[in-house]
Amino acid sequence: MTNKEIRISYIEYNGIDELKTDDQELVKAAIAATATAYAPYSNFHVGAAVRFEDGEVVQGSNQENAAYPSGICAERTTLFYASASRPGKPMAALAIAACQGGKLIEEPVTPCGACRQVMAQYQLKSGMPMRILLVGAHKIWEFAKVEDLLPLMFDSI
Ligand code: THU
Repeated sequence: MTNKEIRISYIEYNGIDELKTDDQELVKAAIAATATAYAPYSNFHVGAAVRFEDGEVVQGSNQENAAYPSGICAERTTLFYASASRPGKPMAALAIAACQGGKLIEEPVTPCGACRQVMAQYQLKSGMPMRILLVGAHKIWEFAKVEDLLPLMFDSI
């Protein structure tokens, strides 16, 4: 028997000004996308933005439905839109932000398990690490790759 350990590391920034310019733009795009959320049930307005390898950015937001499971998170809206509108174009980074009552939530928003698995798939398809920026009101967390949010992710087929 062997005891094993998985360690992850991430960077905490104390505000958007500490990010490099293209990440600042990506974070601003995710924050702006919160305004497009359709979240009449949770009132939790989530925005996401994908930056492709060539620098182009696309945005999306959570879209809820009266039949609750039919709604979808901002991350998956954005990743599916990115892939459907620019098929085969590698994705390099994803930023996620969330607002409640018109304000960014205090702690950085952390994506659900289903969205992490979808990120894993597009990272694999892109053939490059997908950096992930999770936005809070006063701090931002940066993960270098999807494995750091989803250790032992399924990528076997
Ligand atoms: N939601 C997202 O869009 N992304 C997350 O990372 C967390 C949760 C959405 C799903 C639902 O519309 C609302 O936020 C409340 O869970």
